[in-house]
Amino acid sequence: MHDARDPLRGPLGRLTRARRLLDEAERVLVLTGAGISAESGVPTFRDEMEGLWSRFRPEELATPQAFARDPRLVWAWYEWRREQLRTCRPNAAHRALARRLAAAPEGRRLYTQNVDGLHDRAHDELACPDGDAEGARPRPLHGDIFRVRCSRCAWHDRGLDPVDASAVDTLPRCPRCEALVRPAVVWFGEALDPEVLEGAVEHAQNADACLVVGTSAVVQPAASLPRIVLQAGGAVVEVNPQPTPLSSMATVRIAGAAGAVLPELLD
Ligand code: APR
Repeated sequence: MHDARDPLRGPLGRLTRARRLLDEAERVLVLTGAGISAESGVPTFRDEMEGLWSRFRPEELATPQAFARDPRLVWAWYEWRREQLRTCRPNAAHRALARRLAAAPEGRRLYTQNVDGLHDRAHDELACPDGDAEGARPRPLHGDIFRVRCSRCAWHDRGLDPVDASAVDTLPRCPRCEALVRPAVVWFGEALDPEVLEGAVEHAQNADACLVVGTSAVVQPAASLPRIVLQAGGAVVEVNPQPTPLSSMATVRIAGAAGAVLPELLD
């Protein structure tokens, strides 16, 4: 509910307040979820997926148990999602974040729950000179659907080629130990990379501000990051067309689509 009569409380006032918070902050943590990729045509996690897959839920297929039980079905689902993503492009929100992080990487970190690789592509398309400055490169909390790893040993690699999931025998195998290769994403019931998570928590504990974009803020441990920033005295700016459990705690909440709001907020 906004009061248009109060310039600082109306949508414009909120955008101004949020811009000022993010411009003045020395250490910023950005957390994104599936919503930031919605305008790129990537269905969010809790959207209805059309066709063949609508009878499956991610919680049923994105698990180690499902992969052990039927690796062909799990790879068929992931290859369907990868096929969709190959035609998707970073949108204005990904690009605005990439510009901002490349222009001022010091003290800024972007953590994403998304596995779609669109933040990386927006970053690579910038071809910024100090591309790998500490704060510029996006950090995936839940892995990357275009990377693969061995289901048994430590082997991993970029996995851009389409996977033939027509039979178990056509699935990719590890070049080192010949076990099945799997998508390098974090499945339900699996732990996040402890080094990545520790880095995110440490950054949140020392952040002056947190920009949260396009997440339902219900899946842990990512959903704790904005709360850690608030507990440490930092400010939280939330961008989401729908309210979430975080909205009532946010310092500034902007009810809008990421593709429209982020260029206004960051450029
Ligand atoms: N701009 C901003 N936010 C949007 C947009 C948009 N254009 N469209 C939708 N949203 C918001 C929705 O309102 C919702 O709050 O994006 C959020 C998407 O929420 P989820 O589908 O729950 O996705 P996410 O929060 O990323 O899920 C977290 O759950 O299933 C696991 O590992 C999976 O990473 C995923 C995690």
